[in-house]
Amino acid sequence: MGCSVLNLLFWCLIFWLFCHSSHKVDSQTGNVDVVQGSVFVNGTAAAKTDDDFICATLDWWPPDKCDYGTCSWGSASLLNLDLNNTILFNAIKAFSPLKIRLGGTLQDKVIYESKNDHQPCSPFVKNSEELLGFSQGCLPMSRWDELNVFFKNAGAAVVFGLNALNGRKIGSDGSAGGAWNSTNAESLMRYTVNKGYTIHGWELGNELSGGGVGTRVAADQYASDIISLQHIVDNIYTGFEVKPLVLAPGGFFDENWFSEFIDKTPESLQVVSHHIYNLGPGVDDHLIDKILNPSYLTSGSQPFSGLQRILQNSASSAVSWVGEAGGAYNSGRNLVTNAFVFSFWYLDQLGMASVYNTKTYCRQTLIGGNYGLLNTNSYVPNPDYYSALLWHRLMGSNVLSTSFSGTTKIRAYTHCSKSSQGITVLLINLDGNTTVKVQVSTENAASHGALTIKQQQTQKTKFARMSRDYKVDGKTREEYHLTAKDGDIHSQTMLLNGKILTVNSSGEIPPLEPINVSMQDPINVAPFSIVFVDIPSVGLPACA
Ligand SMILES: *[C@@H]1O[C@H](CO)[C@@H](O)[C@H](O)[C@H]1NC(C)=O
Ligand SMILES: *[C@@H]1O[C@H](CO)[C@@H](O)[C@H](O)[C@H]1NC(C)=O
Ligand SMILES: *[C@@H]1O[C@H](CO)[C@@H](O)[C@H](O)[C@H]1NC(C)=O
Ligand SMILES: *[C@@H]1O[C@H](CO)[C@@H](O)[C@H](O)[C@H]1NC(C)=O
Ligand SMILES: *[C@@H]1O[C@H](CO)[C@@H](O)[C@H](O)[C@H]1NC(C)=O
Ligand SMILES: *[C@@H]1O[C@H](CO)[C@@H](O)[C@H](O)[C@H]1NC(C)=O
Repeated sequence: MGCSVLNLLFWCLIFWLFCHSSHKVDSQTGNVDVVQGSVFVNGTAAAKTDDDFICATLDWWPPDKCDYGTCSWGSASLLNLDLNNTILFNAIKAFSPLKIRLGGTLQDKVIYESKNDHQPCSPFVKNSEELLGFSQGCLPMSRWDELNVFFKNAGAAVVFGLNALNGRKIGSDGSAGGAWNSTNAESLMRYTVNKGYTIHGWELGNELSGGGVGTRVAADQYASDIISLQHIVDNIYTGFEVKPLVLAPGGFFDENWFSEFIDKTPESLQVVSHHIYNLGPGVDDHLIDKILNPSYLTSGSQPFSGLQRILQNSASSAVSWVGEAGGAYNSGRNLVTNAFVFSFWYLDQLGMASVYNTKTYCRQTLIGGNYGLLNTNSYVPNPDYYSALLWHRLMGSNVLSTSFSGTTKIRAYTHCSKSSQGITVLLINLDGNTTVKVQVSTENAASHGALTIKQQQTQKTKFARMSRDYKVDGKTREEYHLTAKDGDIHSQTMLLNGKILTVNSSGEIPPLEPINVSMQDPINVAPFSIVFVDIPSVGLPACA
């Protein structure tokens, strides 16, 4: 008798240990811990993104733009990119639409070819004596035609960054003084409208806000330049049902500068754009440590929350976008910012930006530098391309606040699903030695239609566990597991559910197919993996 009670206690203990504690499991790759974790999803929408949240940039850098002895731009500039490349076309087309922001450092030194102006239209020339390291460059209208035809066919929504330094003088303190001379930009805009090209937005300037990069423009001057730009847009697009957005300043978040700028443009700005390079220079030896450190990643939310606060307290109806984000500045870092590991940073940024009501997030770059979604030379997609495409296809615009308990190494984000009335959970495992078995619970889960408001109130703190309640409606969910080839986070090859993702010989983007998993099983998040989980059977009020 005593013996069997002890026996029972023993097995209870074993069972308890199995369920509640992490334990080592031998595997060929070493010791892998297994821990339990749980995601809690709040059923009230916390924020809303654009339907087309994903955006990528194309830049102006010529082939002789080099950083730390490496020239990583090849022929990936707006002036020389091969617009006949099939992979490039298919890669954009897969989004339909992909927002593309055209801009970058040299945009402020571009002159647009124009009939009234009899200067030769010459390319940028490297010159370390010049501001930003290059001479003025020029965009020929023949190239602008090619770009517009290409973007239209590929299904891109284009945001164009205008030359905000035109007409200004650089003072002895390094600041750019005087008003923006809009004459040349206006001629480009008129040309564009006359040709019937659709532009989603006109943005003014690149990294001239706050302390600026290279040079800077004061907030009150910038505000008056934006008011001019809004007048020009209103004028040129008179009678258009949909007018392009006016965006600015496309620079680093600086609380005082942005507050003043937003205050002074209450009716002339639709998008406040800012840039993110929170990992430091590409040459930094600690990039990987930063990317794998959850508190470092979390600290990256500061500009999102700061800008959200300013917008909430202002009279402006403008929304925020990340207009350019490459993570590591000076062209990124080969085998980091173009490798599997960068999806940890990138998807985490997309998740955080969404929570703070960012409408669109532009990745530096679509192609070019060491941080392209596509390889600069072969145009073959890097891992982040597939991460972006999965986000675009799965994550709807309603953002649900999400918390995770069990380990700090899991980053968790949830949106209403794009293609069902359920939810899609994104789980990122920053730990290379731990598998996490995840349960999902939600507030106000309504498996059978919507709950009444009264029911919702009384059930507010009743958390439904999916294994009990959700299987009533749906027996399975769809999972997309992303891992690095051979477990090497520096790999430029990504696997989806164990299969290599690659374009085939016709340059087609592969289909992204999920596996079906029983709702009764926990979500198995492997070491150094990313999982998107589409759960159609969870009915939350925000997703109805
Ligand atoms: C869910 O979000 C709403 C709105 O933000 C908040 O009022 C509520 O307290 C949250 N519920 C839980 C359980 O966190
Ligand atoms: C791209 O194709 C067009 C039309 O077929 C052709 O005129 C042009 O020379 C091609 N450009 C390149 C860079 O191959
Ligand atoms: C602006 O630039 C144009 C040439 O593009 C020039 O003709 C005009 O005088 C300039 N305007 C001002 C106010 O400087
Ligand atoms: C796994 O743990 C071992 C021992 O603690 C450590 O040496 C190794 O670097 C870890 N691997 C990863 C990928 O974190
Ligand atoms: C490439 O993939 C596409 C779609 O997945 C398919 O239609 C096409 O036949 C494939 N081409 C080759 C050469 O395999
Ligand atoms: C997953 O389930 C869907 C229906 O819910 C089905 O159409 C599909 O074929 C299934 N996929 C696999 C791999 O079993």
